[in-house]
Parts: sequence; structure tokens; C-alpha cells
Amino acid sequence: MDKFIIKGGRRLTGNVVISGAKNAAVAILPAVILSDEPCVIENVPNISDVNICLKILREMGATVENLGKDVYRIDPTGIDKVCVPYETARKMRASYYFLGALLGKFNKARVSMPGGCPLGDRPIDQHLKAFSILGAEYTLSQGMIDLKADKLRGNQIFFDVVTVGATMNAMLAAVKAEGLTVIENAAKEPHIVDLANFLNSMGANIMGAGTDVIKIRGVKHLHGTNYSVIPDQIEAGTFMIAAAATKGDIIVENIIPKHLESITKKLEKIGVNIEQYDDSMRVWVDGPLVKANVKTTPHPGFPTDMQPQIATLLILAEGTSIVTEGVWEQRFRYVDELRRMGADITVNGKVALIEGTGKLMGAPVKACDLRAGAALIIAGLAANGITEIEDIFHIERGYDCMEGKLRALGADIEKISVPDNKTAETDNSRAAV
Ligand code: EPZ
Repeated sequence: MDKFIIKGGRRLTGNVVISGAKNAAVAILPAVILSDEPCVIENVPNISDVNICLKILREMGATVENLGKDVYRIDPTGIDKVCVPYETARKMRASYYFLGALLGKFNKARVSMPGGCPLGDRPIDQHLKAFSILGAEYTLSQGMIDLKADKLRGNQIFFDVVTVGATMNAMLAAVKAEGLTVIENAAKEPHIVDLANFLNSMGANIMGAGTDVIKIRGVKHLHGTNYSVIPDQIEAGTFMIAAAATKGDIIVENIIPKHLESITKKLEKIGVNIEQYDDSMRVWVDGPLVKANVKTTPHPGFPTDMQPQIATLLILAEGTSIVTEGVWEQRFRYVDELRRMGADITVNGKVALIEGTGKLMGAPVKACDLRAGAALIIAGLAANGITEIEDIFHIERGYDCMEGKLRALGADIEKISVPDNKTAETDNSRAAV
């Protein structure tokens, strides 16, 4: 079991380069299945969710070659299995993208129900609804989802909730379906646009991604492509907040500032200085931080995946802040850990009241999910004393070499390995988030 040990109190200064977006990469890699030729994907983040995706592709019969640090050549022509078993699917929520990609290519798929629910109820009813509307039948048995269709036909899909995963899965399944598919009430996140751009670069005909109506005219064949994944807006936002929490001064490189608008605006309100350039941003603090109210909503609103990080920053600000979670049922499980570090936070359902005490103290804490882990790192960097963070496998699912990047900015953070006496228990807890 690995842990992070952080000695808090150091200002972050210098430059950090943001990696490719996790939530785009975990959809684009399965989408390669739809191609009739090899694809080269660049700016692929080195995170465990991506490694699981690549493992699944290899196990299905694809040839995966690493051409350099973050570049992969994937040849899907050898794929001869359409199954993602429980053992791999449970480790990564996004394994559900194999459903859409396999269905779109082979008219059938067999994928284990994705595991783990640390953010509350995480149904996939909208994914299944979209597949049905396109002509697939599904059965659920023994924890496996089986999909099959004689033929997929374009149709009108209206989502009952704005959902990133189901929007992407509908795109994957519809891209080669006969005729026109119209997705209404679609999600608009940058990774939706990235998946559409990737599929279009293979010859797909997708219009409107980034708006709430996406139109897809099915094509017969998709060809190989060379594509670079967009930068990770959440990794960028996390480093921006880490800089602010330590009253630092950093340049965040390899970003698309437009994707960070809601984060930038909120941080400016809190008292963080931000100067934007074409593909980078300077972030620094030279005065007091002040309270703010934050409500998470689907894009272009403030992202839920930044909620634990901004809540942590608000502990260090003057005044009482209110943070409201508007996407997930339970995204305040990390608050107990922050309380161990001296935070004064009251949670009532989806609303947290944060008293800005202005300080945190180091403590042993545990990451309960990916972004909760990122919040604990920020807290540890700003705290007096030493913070030990356990269960950092959650963090490594979505942050590419976080401790290395932080060390380069001057943080005192190290990763240590400690003997794991509870292998079975720990392994069971490694379900997806
Ligand atoms: C994606 O999850 C991200 N994961 C999450 O990031 C992110 O928090 C979330 O989108 C919202 O932005 C990946 O991209 C792999 P949703 P997803 O479908 O697609 C409800 C992180 O930290 N819903 O947009 O699973 C659902 O319960 C992770 O990087 C249904 O009711 O989220 C939720 O309340 C965590 N039925 C809301 O919609 C469905 O069939 C939004 O979920 C699907 C979703």
C-alpha cells in the first residue's frame, strides 16, 4: 500500500504541464474499437484508469504499442472478444464505454456492471435506454450486461437527466447506425466535444457536440486517425487551487483556458489572481482569500469534479461559504477527513457550510475517492505539520504523477510504500469511482 507524506507550509512556485484529460481518454481509447484501421492517440495521461483501458483492449485482441511517453498506436483489427469481465470492469467506472463501442462495431457486447458507488447512486438506466432506442436488446444477469442488435438504426434519444456517460455511449453506439440519430438534453462537457472530434477524425458525421442537441448521421466505415487528447481541465483546476491554497505563484501550461472559465471566475471571486495566455495561465495569491458560494452543475457550470478541492480552499478563506453539490447524491464523504485536519464544516444533505478558519493542521487521513484525494493533498500542502494520506490508489486513477509535479513546484511530498497486511480487503475496496 502506498501513502503520500506531505510536510505542509511551502509555497508552490514554478511551472506545471497538464496531462491529457482522463475523462476524454477513457472514452477515446474504447472508441478505437470502432475503427477499421490502427489509430495513434497522443497526450494520453499515465494514470491507472488508462492502463486498465489499454489492458482491456489487449485482452480483447487489439495490438497496443507505446510509441513514446504519452503516445499509443492501437490496432483494433485483431479484436475477437466482445467481453469485459468483472475483474477488470469493477476497477474502472468508465468500463461502460466498452458497451457503446462494442455494440457500435459488432452489434453485441458483454460487459460487467461497473463497480463501486462512492458518490451515491450511480444508475446506468439512461445508457441502456439509449441502446434500446437504437435497436439493441439488453439483459442483466450475474452482474453482466449483455447487449445485442440485429441492426442499429438512428433514432431520437431524449435523456431524462444530463449525463456525460450516457451521452458518450449513445454517440459510440450511433456512429455507425443506419440513418440519423438525434440526442437531446445532451451533456456539453469538453470531453463530449473531444470524443466527437476524435470520431469525426475517423470519418464519422457528428454535429452539435458541445450543445444540448447532437446529431449523428451513421457511416459504414471508420478509418484510422492520429489524434491528441485535450488537456485535463480538472487536473489544471486542481493545480490552480493548490497554488492558491499555498499562497503560491505558478504557471499552468498545456491548457485550454475556455474549458476553465467557471473555475477561473470563482477563484477570482475568492481573491486569486489569474492571468490568461493562449494555452497557459499564471495563478498567484498576494492578498487575503474571501468566502464564496459554489454550486456544482453540468458544464458550463462549476464542475462537480472540482467541488472537494474548492471546498478545501474555502476553509482557508475569510468568512462562511456555502458549497452545494448539484450533480451527485453523496460527494461530501471527504469532509470527515478534513475535520481531522481542523476544518469546521457542517454538511446537511447536498449542502456544506464551511467556516473559514484560515488554517489546517497535518493529520493522518484517507482518500475515499479520486477528487477527495486531491482535496486532501491540497489540505496537506497548506497545513501546518505533516499529513499522511492513505489509499492513494484513488488519486493515481486520475492524476498523472501528481507528487512529481508538486515536488517540481517546491512541495515537500513523497510517496512511500508500507507493507499491506490486508491485501484481500484493500483489493476489494479498489472498485471504481
Ligand atoms: C462522469 O461520470 C465523470 N466520469 C465523473 O468524473 C463526473 O463526476 C461526472 O461525469 C459528472 O461530470 C467519467 O467521465 C469517467 P453522469 P458519469 O452520467 O458519466 C445521473 C471524476 O472524479 N445518471 O454525467 O458516470 C447520475 O446518477 C469522475 O473524474 C442517471 O440518473 O456521470 C448523476 O446524478 C467522478 N442515470 C448524473 O446523472 C444514468 O444512466 C450525472 O452523471 C446516468 C447518470
